[in-house]
Amino acid sequence: MPDETTSSPQITPDHYPANAPPEPISAEKLALKRRYPTSFDLRARAKRRLPNFAFEYIDGGAGAADTGINRNWAALDAVEMLPRYGNVIAPPPTDIELFGQPYSAPIGIAPIGGPGTGFPGAETYFARAAQAAKIPYTLGMLSAITIEQAAQIAPDVLWLQLYRFARNEHKIGLDLVRRAGDAGVKVLMLTCDTPVRTTRPRETKSGIVNPFKLTNRLRMDALSSLPWFLSLMRNGIPRFVNLRPYMDTDPSMEAAAKFMRTEGGGAFTWDEIARYRDHWNGPMVLKGVMHPDDAERVVSLGLDGMVVTNHGGRQIDALPASVDVLPSIAAAVGEKSTIILDSGIRSGVDVARALALGADVALSGKAFLWSLGALGGRGPEHMIDLFKDDLAATLGQLGCLAPAELRTVKTRHPGAYTADEL
Ligand SMILES: Cc1cc2nc3c(=O)[nH]c(=O)nc-3n(C[C@H](O)[C@H](O)[C@H](O)COP(=O)(O)O)c2cc1C
Repeated sequence: MPDETTSSPQITPDHYPANAPPEPISAEKLALKRRYPTSFDLRARAKRRLPNFAFEYIDGGAGAADTGINRNWAALDAVEMLPRYGNVIAPPPTDIELFGQPYSAPIGIAPIGGPGTGFPGAETYFARAAQAAKIPYTLGMLSAITIEQAAQIAPDVLWLQLYRFARNEHKIGLDLVRRAGDAGVKVLMLTCDTPVRTTRPRETKSGIVNPFKLTNRLRMDALSSLPWFLSLMRNGIPRFVNLRPYMDTDPSMEAAAKFMRTEGGGAFTWDEIARYRDHWNGPMVLKGVMHPDDAERVVSLGLDGMVVTNHGGRQIDALPASVDVLPSIAAAVGEKSTIILDSGIRSGVDVARALALGADVALSGKAFLWSLGALGGRGPEHMIDLFKDDLAATLGQLGCLAPAELRTVKTRHPGAYTADEL
């Protein structure tokens, strides 16, 4: 939580090398910054370039009118931050340390299941860009590259997200945990924010059905987009390869969807979370905390952190914006746990808002997917640049010399849940 009594931080001589020249920037990067200066410019291009089902899969939310997605954006937009001037002379560095590891900025790529539907090869492109920029990349368990392959591409920054596989005493889930440890995964993330399967109308209307089936309509739609189709040729048809050792058929999306229904489903219970804690020695976080009492429980089970999230507005559209419950969660456990925020993060300003309200780091899902749809494999690198440049500028504008100083910024947050409401 922002500290009411702290005054604006003072500059010291070692904050900047004297008159450091600006970092050189390539002509290609400059052109991208001029043509696509925000994530919404990437979104518009992705909409034009992707097959309809792919865009609807990555962009659509729960409910008839994406109210949950819009609420996340509106809630972030409503958060104001009060600047203090007189101590910043250049955009400050954005580096942070998280779970004892250095990262170049407090922004990471959120776990995405089946991102190859949005753009084939997505996992490889995400992993490469995150490793090059040194930001966290959370591989979704439902991925088209294995944990081991991802760890080779992104050895310094790989996190892994797990859904629940409860059959046979969690044999599969615990084996995935073992593989993650052997592969050197930095952080294990258990997902709790999807206890049930809900409907995303835009996805359904685009022809994606549950259980998944590759229909002629989807095939025709895929052929309508040259960039998407070429990336499919280059990277192959996405298969849920992490599950291959446990399935007796090829892990096609159809077969894997059926397999998931018999083996998995539901969200981890508190007892199960405690059990996974015993099997994982590294940092472990729970994804899907929206109430301070749940946050306290995460801490009491010995987890290292939590993701405050409403699953990006994709579950039901009546959930609060995650940023609106963040301050009460930060007040409850901010001193003793690492708080990660996602849902609606589109810019470095949004990242700054999250940190000013008590988060240690923010994740983004859709913005990174839009970047792939717009620019293919070059997209994630550009999106990371946008996040970092915008965050550095925001820090400078607010009078902060480092991301940690955002906690000292005074905020006005009209949508915040109060203690009485929780
Ligand atoms: C296409 C798509 C697929 C997703 N799949 C998963 C998943 O498999 N596991 C998971 O924990 N979260 C999943 N998420 C949720 C994200 O991890 C994250 O919570 C959300 O995208 C954040 O909101 P934002 O998209 O507004 O940034 C998915 C999100 C999207 C957009």
